[in-house]
Amino acid sequence: MQVNWLRGSMETWAGDAVIFFDFEKASDRLPGLKRWIGARAKGLEDASAWLDFKGKPQQVSVLFNPGDALAPRIVCSGLGPADKFEMEKVRIATALALRKCREMQLQRVILPLMALDGLPESPAESLREAVIGGLLGLHRYSGYKTRDVDSNDFPEILLLGDEALHGPDLESLPVHALAVTSGVCLARDLVSAPANIVTPSYLAQVGGEISKRYGCLLKVLSFEEARTLGMGAFTAVAQGSREPACMIILEHCPPGAESQRPLVFVGKGITFDTGGISLKPSEKLDAMKQDMAGAAAVLGAFEVLGRLSVGRRVVGIMPCTENMPDGQAYKPGDVIKSLSGLTIEIISTDAEGRVILCDALTHARQYKPAIVIDVATLTGAAVIALGNQVAAILGNHEGLIHKVQEIGRRVGERFWPLPLYDFYFEGIKSEVADFKNLGDRSAGTIIGGIFLKQFVSEDIPWAHMDIAGTAWTTKDLSVCAQGGTGFGVRTLVELARQWED
Ligand code: BES
Ligand code: ZN
Ligand code: ZN
Repeated sequence: MQVNWLRGSMETWAGDAVIFFDFEKASDRLPGLKRWIGARAKGLEDASAWLDFKGKPQQVSVLFNPGDALAPRIVCSGLGPADKFEMEKVRIATALALRKCREMQLQRVILPLMALDGLPESPAESLREAVIGGLLGLHRYSGYKTRDVDSNDFPEILLLGDEALHGPDLESLPVHALAVTSGVCLARDLVSAPANIVTPSYLAQVGGEISKRYGCLLKVLSFEEARTLGMGAFTAVAQGSREPACMIILEHCPPGAESQRPLVFVGKGITFDTGGISLKPSEKLDAMKQDMAGAAAVLGAFEVLGRLSVGRRVVGIMPCTENMPDGQAYKPGDVIKSLSGLTIEIISTDAEGRVILCDALTHARQYKPAIVIDVATLTGAAVIALGNQVAAILGNHEGLIHKVQEIGRRVGERFWPLPLYDFYFEGIKSEVADFKNLGDRSAGTIIGGIFLKQFVSEDIPWAHMDIAGTAWTTKDLSVCAQGGTGFGVRTLVELARQWED
């Protein structure tokens, strides 16, 4: 896939189609299409004059042979009502327009900056989000089919600018959009791939490739090394699995950033969650290959940080293991000692995410982080509370939570906060250890957060993203085909890009 700026005179372009957008109401029409067609094809400058285009959300119409309009097709994509506008509409509209172009087997599609004129955000931001949405919408997990394989290629998106507006933001837009989407799609593919392929060692290998490509530091702690270091919680979960577990640590440290306090991203890497001895029911158990989506999001973010040479020091910590029932597996009732020294009574071995994450969070302290963010498919309760398009965000710092929510909103990842009042700790009090790994059924997502909170120091801003609902989609979301979503990558990257001490 290529994304390039078109240069040269109008007559030398050879696009197969040009994309425009419009709102539903005539009074809210965007000016781009009219300017494009101008005097060339009178009567067609308003897409509502086309046979059936109404600017409805998800609606895409194609006008063939629009007179002398410099491309044999105009593809117009609906943004819905103007008063309900948000950038996600542009991402979706571009995704659907490009999918339509792929269906028509087009080679070169023009996306003009002027198609986004009149939108509330800056032209650079609108176009960037359009391209990102488009690329994400085109992505499909290639899988392991040996028959009836869809071809995934769509050769070229040509961006057409406006000399007057062309600044550095627009110049770097193709590189930025391709980097971000490659990271998101890496995460998606890791989540969609089966657990017999994506093992902890496989994730470590992906970490190794990223570290080689971009020169970041990689450390992979083996089970034995983790045990020697005292990571008794992580190894308790890992001890029931034959598949070798590991703790992957990546450090993106651009020249000159050595003295920065890093942002630390922690990702849950359960490559398959059977529930362990507290075995899950077998129905839909295959979905538990997605339980490493937090680690995948961190790996995806590192891919982008490397590709864009982001000038911020960032550390990624990914505890990776299967959660299996086995003769050696940890059991309900066991008391384990975490790296922090705190002891945990295991009530359910299926609440394993928090158990591996707590040692990763403790390990994070030694980096003296500016902030810590963990990303995890932690609780089914997050799916019940917020569904599949909004992740829960919890933490010890209002400002950070707000920032994550705000950045997420801009890049197309929705977060909604849940509280972490101290009294929730009552729910995990234990008779035999410092606390339990779960409470009763109430406030499941919050209890997960309260548990993790015990392992972060109060003076370090920390946020916990529960992405159990958003890591996977069973229905096509236009910007994301069915499968892994790569949720979290864009927010993590943007946090690192924007971070200022
Ligand atoms: N991996 C699951 C959570 C999950 C559920 C992820 C649905 C993705 C989709 C997690 O390890 C788990 O099993 N959580 C339990 C916690 C409970 C035992 C406190 C749950 O949510 O039921
Ligand atoms: Zn579990
Ligand atoms: Zn899990």
